[in-house]
Amino acid sequence: MEVQVFETKLDVARALARQLETWCSREDFRSIALSGGSTPKIWFDLLAEEYTGALPWEELLFFWGDERCVPPTHPESNYGMTRQHLLDKVPVPENHVFRIRGEDLPGEEASRYGTVLLERLPVQKELPRFDLVVLGMGDDGHTASIFPHEMPLWNAGDPCVVATHPESGQRRISITGGVINNARQVVFLVTGANKASRIRQIQQRLPGYEKLPASRVSPGNGRLLWMLDREAASELS
Ligand code: 6PG
Repeated sequence: MEVQVFETKLDVARALARQLETWCSREDFRSIALSGGSTPKIWFDLLAEEYTGALPWEELLFFWGDERCVPPTHPESNYGMTRQHLLDKVPVPENHVFRIRGEDLPGEEASRYGTVLLERLPVQKELPRFDLVVLGMGDDGHTASIFPHEMPLWNAGDPCVVATHPESGQRRISITGGVINNARQVVFLVTGANKASRIRQIQQRLPGYEKLPASRVSPGNGRLLWMLDREAASELS
């Protein structure tokens, strides 16, 4: 588990953009599962503004680690946010974008998306293997859309499950811990002071850390990199 700390959110975005350029310089590094929420927006904006010529966009395959069960036009759609900040600005072929259909019946969509992953990605230990999974972390220690109150979903045998946001009750489609930990490379992109105590709890294995989905990320045959800004790392010694 490698932890890199940068001064500002933009510094983190720049570092992850450079890291992605390095990873993608390998011709066999092409499948990427993106995180949602607000944190990745600055990274997407930077990629769209400064990396249109630096990455093999036509060869990359984009998936999502989770999606809210809303239509793609809804303001909370991770796909919609990614289109707005990145995909509408870079030359990724339409048939290389594999969105989760948040507008469809959750159970059916979780099953459909799991099948897409199994069909489009290499399979190891009966689960799809991404080249890269980008994760965020909530201040409650959730990641993707596996929340602490639904920890059994982490170990679900299926590639994708239906989850429920603990406060809003919003249904989510999420990849499971088995898929995350099956990846070749996982990177946590976490910024902001509101994440600092959880980061400390996980990094220093403080009481209750094992109850947090983000603490379970540990690729068995891959690498894990945490990329933090100074605020998110402010409680680490
Ligand atoms: C989502 C994300 C989720 C996110 C965290 C952090 O759909 O919300 O995939 O796992 O990464 O909730 O969200 P912020 O970046 O908004 O803090």
